[in-house]
Amino acid sequence: MKGILLSGGSGTRLHPMTLATSKQLLPVYDKPMIYYPLSTLILAGIRDIMIITTPHDQEQFKRLLGDGSQFGVTFTYRSQPNPDGIAQAFLIGEDWLDGAPCALALGDNLIFADHLPLMLREAALREKGATVFAYQVRDPERYGVVTFDEKGQALDITEKPADPASNWAVTGLYFYDHRVCDMARQVRPSARGELEITDLNQMYLDEGTLQVDLLGRGCAWLDAGMPDSLMQAGTFVQAIQSRQGLLVGSPAEAAFRMGFIDAEQLRAHGRKMSKTELGRMLLQVADTLRSLA
Ligand code: G1P
Repeated sequence: MKGILLSGGSGTRLHPMTLATSKQLLPVYDKPMIYYPLSTLILAGIRDIMIITTPHDQEQFKRLLGDGSQFGVTFTYRSQPNPDGIAQAFLIGEDWLDGAPCALALGDNLIFADHLPLMLREAALREKGATVFAYQVRDPERYGVVTFDEKGQALDITEKPADPASNWAVTGLYFYDHRVCDMARQVRPSARGELEITDLNQMYLDEGTLQVDLLGRGCAWLDAGMPDSLMQAGTFVQAIQSRQGLLVGSPAEAAFRMGFIDAEQLRAHGRKMSKTELGRMLLQVADTLRSLA
């Protein structure tokens, strides 16, 4: 399975912070925002990742992330010149995907859960159809919203409904089978002029192959697309890291746990940032796990 990390868009809901830089490069506590969904893809076991950015922000992403070898993965960069919708990612990446199944992560979404790696691997292994994750929120009108019948079967997904029929929002992490590009080509622009990911998901739902996994209380899903949610995400990461000493959203740590890099490579990450708490924590992870081995 390949992965796409979508980091385009103009970040208008974060102006003026995003006038001179990309939203997904803004800090969420002690790391750039894109580190969080990148760690999620790595924890799903994905090593071949396309990073889609606006053309003018791409150099900065390359400077931050390089070719992926530091995390034991491969990055391919592509541009999305206009914010024409999330489903466009599959048209941009079609030749690169070359018929492979694909996970898509939005560059401003942060998911945190104890059992996350297991959940991700299950979704990645599912052969037919698509998997999305739903999470209860107080402001469903900001998201794609899924409704269920009394048996808990998903009925319908609506993008940013004015009057949401449920409070289950669809998170920005999606898994699709090898047909995703063919399906994405059938999506037509919505009233707001975008190729909606919700329309693509609805197609899978209509053919009965969309799996909607519920993220329960033990999970945190945060999107960092507005000033308040950006601040909440930062505060959340700070609370977990300083209280438990566990890292959230570190691609180096995730790569180490997945066996993509070894302890020495992880130490190199830590040493490069030795003046930071993050660097010290990476060195600690390398030590702790080595002493456990
Ligand atoms: C997008 C999707 C929406 C999804 C959300 C998750 O919204 O269109 O269905 O719930 O991401 O973050 P947008 O970020 O474009 O407002």
